[in-house]
Amino acid sequence: MASEYQPIGVFDSGYGGLTILKEFLNDLPGYDFIYLGDNARAPYGSRSFEVVYEYTLQAVNKLFEMGCHLVILACNTASAKALRNIQQNDLPHIDPDRRVLGVIRPAVESIGDYTRNGHVGILGTVGTVLSNSYPIELEKWAGGKVVRTTQEACPIWVPLVENNEIDSPGTEYFVAKNIRNLLSADPEIDSIILGCTHYPLLLPVIRKFIPENIQLLEQGKLVSSKLTEYLIRHPEMDQKCSKSGIVTYFTTENEEVFEKNATTFLGRNIKSKKILLK
Ligand code: DGL
Repeated sequence: MASEYQPIGVFDSGYGGLTILKEFLNDLPGYDFIYLGDNARAPYGSRSFEVVYEYTLQAVNKLFEMGCHLVILACNTASAKALRNIQQNDLPHIDPDRRVLGVIRPAVESIGDYTRNGHVGILGTVGTVLSNSYPIELEKWAGGKVVRTTQEACPIWVPLVENNEIDSPGTEYFVAKNIRNLLSADPEIDSIILGCTHYPLLLPVIRKFIPENIQLLEQGKLVSSKLTEYLIRHPEMDQKCSKSGIVTYFTTENEEVFEKNATTFLGRNIKSKKILLK
């Protein structure tokens, strides 16, 4: 790969990060991107802190090797369980001029635009929920605006997406069940954060079970507008991002399956290459 190709890296355990990449491609069309989905080892949501950290660090290192100076962890689980460690302990040794950013802060910082009564619901993976990242970050960055945060882990949702079961009847059952649990734990919830980048892929099903008066926060647009602002605030990083409009895709699983699913979702024909993370 030519050394002047210095794309922005977008990493997820599987297909979920495509919901973030899609918005990047809209907002930053001239930029180069590399998407990396660790589909072979997804889902990450039920894995331990150590394993999510290890896999995420492998992916970040791989993206750095491929020329990225800026990597977005387009995965809440990785952002919750690995981001801080990588930023504080690994980056200073690997290269203090490179950056790794996550997806939790953009949603947290935007919550005040959505909630009226301060009752917020979080739908996420087991890992994200157990990390308590959302309640902690909401307290820190949206303290005055949030009265109560209620979380519901949805362990089956990511496997349903990864296994292309979005349209099957079983999916409705699990989606309905988790949303019911969340809303009965706090009936005053007026805003729900979809705290997993896979969940927008289930949106047609999710919307069926969320009352219309409840606001639904999807991360794609929020993360993308924060990235755009970040690049304006950090011209030194912006200069390091090459801009030929080239997007390349890597998966750790079967290329044809990845291409078929990603093409359908992104609405553009894509080619991918299989790589091994270690
Ligand atoms: N897209 C990841 C997230 O946002 C899914 C995690 C998983 O692989 O379970 O959390």
